[in-house]
Amino acid sequence: MTERITKNMARNIYFGGSIFAILIFAGLSLDTVQRVPELSNADKITKSVANGKHLWEINNCIGCHTIMGEGAYYAPELGNVFDRRGMKDEAAFKAYLSGWMAAQPLSEPDRRKMPQFNLSEEQINNLADFLIWTSRIDDNEWPPNIEG
Ligand code: HEC
Repeated sequence: MTERITKNMARNIYFGGSIFAILIFAGLSLDTVQRVPELSNADKITKSVANGKHLWEINNCIGCHTIMGEGAYYAPELGNVFDRRGMKDEAAFKAYLSGWMAAQPLSEPDRRKMPQFNLSEEQINNLADFLIWTSRIDDNEWPPNIEG
């Protein structure tokens, strides 16, 4: 006897399979969303971190940079710039960022340029706190290498 899939069976497989996949997707999404405060260390969002994020947005840093993979691919990933340039030392990173922001734009001819933003020391400190906080988000080790 030849076994054939009837229309009814095909429909059941289609709908059953879809509902099964949708339920798994919804369950995993819910699980991820519930863990966001813990994964992002939400309790460590200080006023300075929040100000830094605001400065990050109004100065459109993401128009050139990526942060945790999101953004533009003109300039380096900054989600891990604290690990890369600060060697995980907050004071060293703040000194580095302050020097970096003051030195822009660099005059080397064949290098992509970053604008001068004329930010105050306090604003740069806020941006540093934001980037330090970002680097500690548990994002499954993204980006995969230290240079982003
Ligand atoms: C117009 C594009 C542009 C914008 C906007 C921009 N950057 Fe950059 N940024 C660059 C480029 C290009 C480089 C790499 C320059 C180089 O290596 O000489 C860079 C490099 C950096 C670095 C050094 C990264 C490393 O790995 O050494 C930091 C830190 C940085 N930018 C921070 C910022 C912040 C903070 C903002 C927003 C206030 C910002 N950038 C906005 C273009 C931009």
